[in-house]
This record gives sequence, structure tokens and C-alpha cells, in this order.
Amino acid sequence: MRIELLHINNVRNLSDLELSPIPSFNLICGPNGSGKTSLLEAINLLGVGRSFRSNQPAQYITHLNPSCEVFGKVCEYDSPSVRLGISKNRSGEHLVRINGENARSAAELANHLPLQVITPSSIELIEGSANGRRKFLDWGVFHVEPQFINWWRDAQKLLRHRNAILKKLQAGDLERANKELLIWDNEINKCSENILRARVEYLDQFKAFFEQKYSNLIPGLSLQFRLLKGWPDDLDLIEAFRNSRERDVKLGYTQYGPHKADIKIKVDGRSADEVLSRGQKKILVCVLKCLQAELLQQTTGKTCVFLVDDLAAELDLENQKKLCEIFQALSSQVFITAVSPDLLLPALEGKPFKTFHVEHGVLLDSE
Ligand SMILES: Nc1ncnc2c1ncn2[C@@H]1O[C@H](COP(=O)(O)OP(=O)(O)OP(=O)(O)O)[C@@H](O)[C@H]1O
Ligand SMILES: [Mg+2]
Repeated sequence: MRIELLHINNVRNLSDLELSPIPSFNLICGPNGSGKTSLLEAINLLGVGRSFRSNQPAQYITHLNPSCEVFGKVCEYDSPSVRLGISKNRSGEHLVRINGENARSAAELANHLPLQVITPSSIELIEGSANGRRKFLDWGVFHVEPQFINWWRDAQKLLRHRNAILKKLQAGDLERANKELLIWDNEINKCSENILRARVEYLDQFKAFFEQKYSNLIPGLSLQFRLLKGWPDDLDLIEAFRNSRERDVKLGYTQYGPHKADIKIKVDGRSADEVLSRGQKKILVCVLKCLQAELLQQTTGKTCVFLVDDLAAELDLENQKKLCEIFQALSSQVFITAVSPDLLLPALEGKPFKTFHVEHGVLLDSE
């Protein structure tokens, strides 16, 4: 996919900003605080329905305004353009429009505009909690398994019910817990089997692809990926629920399940988080996101749009070049921010690009 036209209204300091990006590299340049990251944030809103910086719309909707809006025209190769729009108010309610029709949920946007986001905080994928890695994994599964989102929503709903029961139960009342939880345990187990199968299949493809094409991008490091399913390896989920029931009741929430899945990333048998330098973590994250984009392209024909905030931070020129080569090989549209275009030009040598200058939230010119 690529964005042909973008209109942003009331996202942070951007109001009524329109731009026509090119299909390859779009450099968003301007001084600190000018609105570069906000522009990427607005594209993310259009593709996912959320910001990558804040869960609270009141933080990214322009002060004193009731809502923000982002509109985009996107297309894939020669197919007709699709018109996407999202409007979000301060309490988080949104209206999503696709080709002039109301859409059921923001998840439908992602089908038309698959995004990969690389920001200075993306190394959380290595350093942070399981949450980020699970989202990364599920992004891939969501795009190849159309049922996944339903299984996931069902599992969330069932887990909410189970947790509500756990909160009501008195610690020590195990007999009642066993009786009341059984039906929920069985239902969650059914959903989890589907979720687990889809995750395993995806990660297997991912690992094979990594070995085939991407491992040489991180020379000298031997990486291993392993799925942690969200409960002990040697148990099925029903057994895990049974074993943890007493503790679940005491804590008032469900400790095991698909909501606890993770990908363990190891380098030569040791945790990647402990072994790699910050720059190595950053390049690893970039490589993993590119791999995911290429896998999506191979399995569905869809091309990701990359949002890259502050590429020059932490990556040396050689790695910046390497990354731009991959973006080009993927035929991806890329939006890259930098304080000055001079910081990016060496990495983009010989590649087509267009520069957009932003200042105080206003697009000055493009060249
Ligand atoms: N809700 C809001 N309403 C209006 N302006 C806001 C809001 N939130 C943040 N801003 C302002 O928006 C501006 C743009 O911020 P942004 O993070 O996009 O800048 P940037 O160009 O990426 O800067 P840097 O080079 O420092 O990363 C900042 O001046 C910030 O103070
Ligand atoms: Mg910024």
C-alpha cells in the first residue's frame, strides 16, 4: 500500500495540513517541536486507530479542540484508491470511514494500510515487557489469519468474565471456584487452541524466513526465537488453570492464558536484552520489522508503509544504508523524520526521495 494523499486536522500542533507523498522515501524535516513525529503519529492513527505515543486522545488532540481527524487516499499498485478516514474525540470514541461507509472497527483500517513503526522507543521490543513482543507477533498473525481477531476478541471477553468471577470469590473457597470457573476455563481453552496454532504457524514461517534471508544482516550473532505460549510448556491450558486456581483466586486475576504469550529472543543462548548493545538492539528491531513486512508481502501481496522517527539516532551510517536498501527492495513507501535533510542524504544516496519541511506545525515547502 501507499498513501497518495494525506489530510491531518488537529493532531497535536498540526491543523489542516495536507501533503502528497511519493511512493518511495518521504523525508519529514524541521526543527525540534515542529511537528515531525506528530505527522507520523497521524498516519498511525489512520492505519491503526491509535497513536504510538499515547493511549489518551486528549494528549494528542490539539489543545482546546474536541476531536482530531485524519483522512488518506491509499492504493496498492494499479488497483483503485481506497479512501480512509478516522475522527477521534477526547473521550476516545471514534468514527472510521472506508470509501464513504462507516466501518465496524478501527481494525479494518489495518487491512488497507499495514504499517510498521520504528521510533527511538522501538527497542522496547527487546528490552520491554512481553506485551510488546506479543503485539508484534499478533500483528503478523492478524494479517495472515482472518479469524484471528475474532478468536482474540472472544478470548479477551472470556478472560474478563473469568477475572470478574475470581474477584468475587473468597480466598480459600476452592470448591466454589472449581465449580464456577470450569465452564469459562473450557471456553478459554477452545479459543486458546486456535490462537496458539495460528501463532505457532506464523512464528515457524518467521524463523524460517529469518534463517533464509535476514540472519546475515546481523553478522556475528546467532539468534534464536522461541514462543512462550502463556502457560507452562509441559501443561495444557486446562491443567495450568487447575494448578494455578488457588493463586488466581488469591490474586483476583488469571495468570495463565494466551494473553501472557511472549517470544523469547536469544543470542547464542543468552537473552538478547542482556547481550546486545543499544545500537545492536535497534538494528535488530529494524530487521525484525522489515522481515515481518516482507513475510506479509509474500503471503498476502500487501506492502507495508514504514514510519521511521529519527533514523539517524543510534544507527550508524552503514546500518542506515542497509535499512534504506531493504525498504527499497520491499518497494515500501517510507516516511522518515530528521531535524535536517543533511542527516539523511548520505543514507539515501541514489534513491528517489521528496523532502517536506515542517515548521510550527505548518508545511513550508517540498522539493
Ligand atoms: N495536544 C497538543 N496540542 C497542541 N500542540 C501539542 C499537543 N501536544 C504536543 N504539542 C506540540 O506539538 C509540537 C510538535 O511535537 P512533535 O513531537 O511532533 O515535534 P517534533 O518535530 O517531532 O520534534 P523533535 O525534533 O523534538 O522530535 C510540539 O511543539 C508540542 O509542544
Ligand atoms: Mg520528534
